[in-house]
Parts: sequence; structure tokens; C-alpha cells
Amino acid sequence: MNAVEIEEAVTALAAAPFDRDEFPFAFLRAFGNKETTLKKLRSGASNKSDLGGVLQTSNIHIAVAAPGDVSATLAALRESPATTRAKAKFILATDGEAFEAEDLASGSGETVACAFADFPDHFGFFLPLAGITTVKQVRDSSFDIRATSRLNKLYVELLKDNPDWGTAERRPDMNHFMARLIFCFFAEDTDIFNGSGLFTATIDQMSERDSSNTHTVIGEIFRAMNTAISNRASAGLPRWADGFPYVNGGLFSGSLDVPRFSKIARTYLLHIGSLDWRKINPDIFGSMIQAVADDDERGALGMHYTSVPNILKVLNPLFLDDLREHLAEAGDNPRKLLNLRNRMARIRVFDPACGSGNFLVIAYKEMRAIEAIINERRGEDGLKSEIPLTNFRGIELRDFPAEIARLALIIAEYQCDVLYRGQQLALNEFLPLNAQNWITCGNALRLDWLSICPPTGTGVKLVGDDLFNTPLDQAQIDFENEGGETYICGNPPYLGSTWQDDEQKSDLQAIFGHRTKSWKSLDYVAGWFMKAADYGTKTSAAAAFVSTNSICQGQQVPILWPLVFATGHEIAFAHTSFKWANLASHKAGVTVVIVGISNHARKLRQLFSSAENDASIVKEAENINAYLVSGPNIEVSQARSTISDISPMVRGNMPYDGGHLLLTSDDVDTLNLNEDQYHRFIRKNYGGAEFIRGVERYCLWIEDANLDEAMHIPGIKTRIEAVRQMRLASPDKGANEMASRAHQMREMNIGRSHTIVAAAISSENRPYLPCGLINNHTTVNNKNYALYDAPLWNLALIASRLHWVWIGTVCVRLEMRFSYSNTLGWNTFPVPPLTEKNKADLTRCAEDILLAREAHFPATIADLYEVKDGESKMPANLREAHERNDAVLERIYIGRRFRNDTERLEKLFELYTKMTASGGAAKKRKAGATA
Ligand SMILES: C[S@@+](CC[C@H](N)C(=O)[O-])C[C@H]1O[C@@H](n2cnc3c(N)ncnc32)[C@H](O)[C@@H]1O
Repeated sequence: MNAVEIEEAVTALAAAPFDRDEFPFAFLRAFGNKETTLKKLRSGASNKSDLGGVLQTSNIHIAVAAPGDVSATLAALRESPATTRAKAKFILATDGEAFEAEDLASGSGETVACAFADFPDHFGFFLPLAGITTVKQVRDSSFDIRATSRLNKLYVELLKDNPDWGTAERRPDMNHFMARLIFCFFAEDTDIFNGSGLFTATIDQMSERDSSNTHTVIGEIFRAMNTAISNRASAGLPRWADGFPYVNGGLFSGSLDVPRFSKIARTYLLHIGSLDWRKINPDIFGSMIQAVADDDERGALGMHYTSVPNILKVLNPLFLDDLREHLAEAGDNPRKLLNLRNRMARIRVFDPACGSGNFLVIAYKEMRAIEAIINERRGEDGLKSEIPLTNFRGIELRDFPAEIARLALIIAEYQCDVLYRGQQLALNEFLPLNAQNWITCGNALRLDWLSICPPTGTGVKLVGDDLFNTPLDQAQIDFENEGGETYICGNPPYLGSTWQDDEQKSDLQAIFGHRTKSWKSLDYVAGWFMKAADYGTKTSAAAAFVSTNSICQGQQVPILWPLVFATGHEIAFAHTSFKWANLASHKAGVTVVIVGISNHARKLRQLFSSAENDASIVKEAENINAYLVSGPNIEVSQARSTISDISPMVRGNMPYDGGHLLLTSDDVDTLNLNEDQYHRFIRKNYGGAEFIRGVERYCLWIEDANLDEAMHIPGIKTRIEAVRQMRLASPDKGANEMASRAHQMREMNIGRSHTIVAAAISSENRPYLPCGLINNHTTVNNKNYALYDAPLWNLALIASRLHWVWIGTVCVRLEMRFSYSNTLGWNTFPVPPLTEKNKADLTRCAEDILLAREAHFPATIADLYEVKDGESKMPANLREAHERNDAVLERIYIGRRFRNDTERLEKLFELYTKMTASGGAAKKRKAGATA
């Protein structure tokens, strides 16, 4: 269940008559528990309560109290030994009138105490029960989820009643209508409309109960809001609509068409009006509401949400920290404070993939907070803000989020005015809305950012007559930034190359096509970095984007970053990989980095990384390279051969067989081979999963000289023929050519004595790369890399922490998983010259690792290196063997153990730079080489 569905279920439960016996089960059902789970609790099989309530292990202890006894019952639940034993996260007591609960797990001791009917207001508190871990701020924003849920119902109902509004041409009208409604709900609860609840009450009273004229009533209200007071007399407005103020600002101009309402839709509308819209969080609400207008996204309603702390990880180092430092430095000095205020009035914040504007809203709110302190210190409390909303600019592809972004900023401005200037002043200046358009709906990679955020204030001032349907060229409006700074920020779409559609690919081609041949490998987000860097060459700007970590790893680094650096930009700050949490965080969250670029970066750069409890630690560095490591700028390119004196590694044999050369043990049995034939034609074969999980697989292994004999075995003959047909039918020319030797894989490599193996794809959670040793009767396919007959000390290198760190940085990653590569990971691996003694020591270490594994036979690599709930389950002897291996290898590098992975990487980069700069090794490097 998603958060919205849970909210709906909880609301229905609170509205239903209270059933003492049923309540605990109904409550658990509302949080997504299955009937089978409830059945077990009901029967007592899994119910651990010692108070006659319902206790679900690791979740919640619920007790229904006698009337008036709720607090005492909650205390009993708290004291109950069963609560502790079962590690309950929550306790809950209710008598159907009062409702009390406490969070035992988070350590916050947070409690809820309210009337039973109001407990749905706190449903966010209980979201961990549904496996949804939330940050506190989301718990507090139950309102935003509830509003999203209600608006979604209305949206779906209206589309049902007005199918033409669902067509591509009319969707913008529908979205525009929703934006108007949201504004009205907010305005009626915040005194922007005279009195409270005016909008909902007017519809309730003036529209027929059968809903036949609801659209007309709403249309008249909208018309009033588009009619200046001076024109009211001649406008012929009904008396009940005349009480609405003039709003315009483009919001109520243009077509005032309203969709028709069914009775249900009318009820939904009145329901939405009954919510307390003062509680809206424009930053959170905006992200949540987007899904309403997106048929594909609706399933994830209320789940998409970017936490404010994460947004601040971008904005603080980009410019807010600097403002705060200047504020601290100014102290009470009125001149300095004034300078800072003047400076802030000219700062523009520009998000070129702004969605519903959350980065802009947070930036605005934070700047207003700083300005409020300045005003207070200068004794100018309540002064009108000098920070123009129009300096917060965005580009957004989709029309609905773009509309919501404008609305969110308007709401944020009003809320800040109420907070810092008081309700009356806020109201006095709120209406009519400013008609300027400062969020552009369009493709950011195709638009000229300089025209949307020109280097200086432009004299062109085009005022849109419809805020929500302004053509792109009207983005050129006046703004207060003469000589000011521009900060570009956001969370653009990441999209790896396989996920890009043709249009997105051509967007990238337009930006990169003339700069590099390899642009096709870039993630879509790279376009934003390049455009920001280009923009920075024309005006004083700095930029920071959230991105998938892949642009700072592997093959994308040498493609993208030299181009960005060539514009004179450097990495001013960065945050290394962390999970980008949202309400869907019980699903795997995306792993992201933040990269800030600037052409006037401070001398010392800030390199942030995650610490415990979502905190970040910062380290200062003279330079941050494109791998987000403190050190000189280098890009590790694919190398055709090893830069160090280590053995060659190649990819395993590529079958190209349609599955016919590979065999299960049953397949082998059906071939009915005698022992001699078995020995000649069958080899054990490892793919990635087989190698890591120890799954038995085999393959046909037919040397050319043995082909005639093999063709006399019917089962083998049929398989070879099937391979031939498959290769002939393939659109791949290479495969067609291989049809003439259908008895073989593309390569037929096998170790004469042994093979060292490394898995191509593996989980990043294991502390070491899955690698091992196989005999000369076993082969590997292309899901593994192989070193045939190589000395065993190579295995010690592959199994080391140093190599793990190197691979994690310079190789491509799939999500977080490691994708090993010989050309990028092994051939580039910098190893100091090894003496015979070093090699002997490392050989011994490799043998010890293998022996330690052997002691746990038949445990597989997956078993031995398992990590569960963040904890390694590695057996002690194996851990010790790895530790010894690392100790021996690291002493070879620096004479002692490295302190941490950062130090390892810094050393590896240093060595790599030296080795590739020196003639011999440099000659070996060859960009674009393949295995
Ligand atoms: C990951 S979202 C971030 C939005 C917002 N900051 C948030 O956290 O919800 C990326 C946004 O970029 C928009 N987008 C995608 N491609 C775009 C393009 N070419 N130009 C402008 N916006 C684009 C998407 O519609 C989406 O709203």
C-alpha cells in the first residue's frame, strides 16, 4: 500500500462506528497487513499481548481501553514485559473517544494524543508500520498526503464525467483548473478571501445538490476573481460571487471553462474544502500532487517527495552557507547587514528541471529567513521583503508541475509574509497576484538559459495575460539582478543511455555532438552540467545538481568532465554517494551524488560524505576530481593492456548459442555419454550466478579435431544444429559468421592448469569482489573475467580491499552494483613493482583465502560473503585471511595499512597518475579499447 492508500483506509476507519473487538485488526489492515496475518493474530497464534490486546511482533501493541481509561492503558502497554520482548515499535490505546499512542522505536519518545475522530491527522506517525520509513518532516505533513489523496479522487472523477478534458489537447485546461482550485482552497483558509471557507461554502450553498450547476457556480466565482474591482459594476456578477476579491495574476484569466461535476465529484470538492489548507507545505505538496495529473504515476501517489534536508545538501554549500557566514560576520553592523540584504535582493536562483519548484521554494524560504534576521537586527521588523519572487526561476517540461511551481512560490511568499510581517501586512499586499511569468514550461536542454536568466536585468518586460499559458518568449521579464549572482540548482532527470528516448538522445547530441564522439554513453543529467558550465562562461554563476553517481564513475568520467573543466569550471563542492530518500524509501531508493561546479570556487573545496543518522561530514580539499575524490584531476580511460606488471585478464567465453551449448546436469544425462566422451566433450561452465551461488552448469566443449566424433552423438548433433540455425537467423553479422563453427562458443579459452575468475557483476554490499580459482576442466562464460594460468598472487590483488575500492570508483556501476571490466578496472589498476618476495607473500595470502573458504565447504561465495542488514556474515577465519591479504598488500604500497578507503583511493590515483605519465605505461593506454 502506498501512503495515500493508507491515509484513505485510516480515514474510513475513523469515520466508521467504533467496534471494540475489531478495531486493532482494522487498524492493522489499514496499514497493509494481509488477511492471513490478521487471521494468525486473531487466533492468538502470533498475538503476543499480555494485556488482552493485540501485539504484533516488531510492530505494535494495541489495547482497547475501558471508557475513560486510555492514559492508564497506554502506561500499562509501556510497562508491559511483552511489549519489550516483542520489540514493539509503537503502543496504542483507545476507547473510541480518546486516542493515545507512543513511538518506542525511534528513540524520540514522540506521542500522539487526540480525539479518536482526529487520529487520521496523525497517520504519518504510524507509517513505519507499513515499512515506510519517513523523516520527521513527512510525518508532520500528513496534510499534504491527505490533500493529494482527495484531489486525486476529484481529478479521476472529473475525468470520468468529462472524458474530453482527458485528451492531450485539453489536459492543460484540466491541470489549470486544478491549480485554480488549489489556490482557492488555500485562499479561503488564510483570509485571502474575505472570511474563512468562503469558496467551499459558496459552492455548497449556491450549487444544486444534484450538482447540475456546480460548474456554472464555480465559473462565476472564477469570473469574479478575474474582474478588477473598478469593473465590477458593469460585469453583471451575481451578488454571491461579488464578494470574491480580484486575483488575476493570470491565474483566473484566459478561458474560464469549468468541467461538469457529478454528485460524487461535488461531494469530493466539498470534502477537500473541509481540510485545513493553512497546513500546506508548498515544497512537499508540490512534489506529491504531480502524480495526480500523470496517469502512469498515479500508482505512486504521494510517494515522490524530496526531503528538505536533501535539498539543503545542494543549496547550503552552493550559496546559503555563504550568506549565513556573511550574516554572522555582519553581527549587528547596520551597514554590513544592509549590504547583505542588497546582495540577496539581486541573487537569482535558477532550477532548470524544477518540477513543482521544491528547490526554488526552499531557497526562497531560507533566504527570507536570513532577511528576517537582518531586518530584526536593523530594527526593521516587518519591512517589506526585498527578495523578488521573480528571481526564483525555473524550467519544467510538463505543464502541471510548472503551474504548481508558480503556485507553490506564491504560497511560500504569502506564508513567509505572514511569518515575518504578520497576517495583516501579508494580506494587504497579496492581491492582485503579479502577472509575470518566471517559470518556463519547456525543454531545458533545448532552451537558451541566457534568455531565461539573462546575465543582467533586461529591459524587455513582457507581462503574460495568462500566468499559466505564457508562451516561451515571455520568459524575458524584468528582474532585480543587475550585477547579481545566479545559482543554478536542481534534481534533473538522470536517465542512463538505455532509458533515453529518441528525443532525449537528440537533446544530448545537440549539446555534446560537436564536442565528443562518445556522447551516447552519457546519462541525460550530463546535459544539465554541460549547459550550466556553458552558462557560467557568460555570467557570474555557480551550479549544483543532484545526479546519479554514474556520471562520476567509470566510462562517463573521461567523456563528460574534461569538457566541463575546459570551460574553466571546477568542482567547488561535492557530496559522495548517498540514498535519495522519499516516501517510497522502503523500495530501494536511488543512490545519488551532488556535484557543485563553479569558475570561481573557493581555494579549499568541500567534500561531503554521509555519516550516521543521515548526517554529513565535510572534509576540505585543494581539489576534488571527477571521481569525487580529493586529488588532482585525472580521468581513468579504458586501457588495452595492463599499466602494471600483472597478468592479462580477458572476458570469459561468449556462448552466442541460444542456450544450446550450455547444459544443466539433466541435459548432460540425456546426452547418454560414456566416460570417455564425457571427459572429451563436457566442461563445467560458470556464468556469474553459477560462480557466486555455486549453481552447477555445464557446456559442450568440442575441439575442431573432435567435431566428427561429436557429430555422431545424436543429442550433441541436434544441439549444434540448433546453434547453427540460431546464429544464421541473428541480425548480428558476427553471429552469422560464427554459424560455420556452431559447435563452439565465440572464444574457446580454458586454463591449461587453472584459471583465476572474477565475476562481471556483483553486489556492492560484499566487502570484497567475488573471485576464485577453477581447475582446467572448468570454463567461464562472458559473465566472468578470467586470468588463464596466471600466477596466484594475481588473485590476492583481485581479492583485496584496494581493488574493491578501485573498481567501485573507476568501473561503471549498475545502480550500486559493481560492473567489473578488464579494460577499465584491471588494466588500469596501479600496482607498484612487485619483488619475488612480495609475490611469494601474496601467493600465500591467496592460498590462505582459498583454504579458509574450503573449510566451510559446501558454502558458496554468496554464503560466505553475505551481508545482512548491513552486517557482514563472513566467517572469522575467512575475514582474518582477507585482513592478512590486505595488510601484506597495503604494506607493499605504503609500508603500513591504509586508514580508510579515502586514503586508499587517494594513493591509487596518485600512483595511477605517475604510472600513466611515465612513457612506457602511458603508451599502453588507449581510450576506447575493448576487450
Ligand atoms: C527528478 S524531477 C525533480 C523535480 C523536483 N526538483 C523534485 O524533486 O520533485 C526532474 C524534473 O525534470 C523534468 N524534466 C525532465 N526532462 C526535462 C527537460 N528536458 N527539460 C526540463 N525539465 C525536464 C521532469 O518533468 C521532472 O519534473
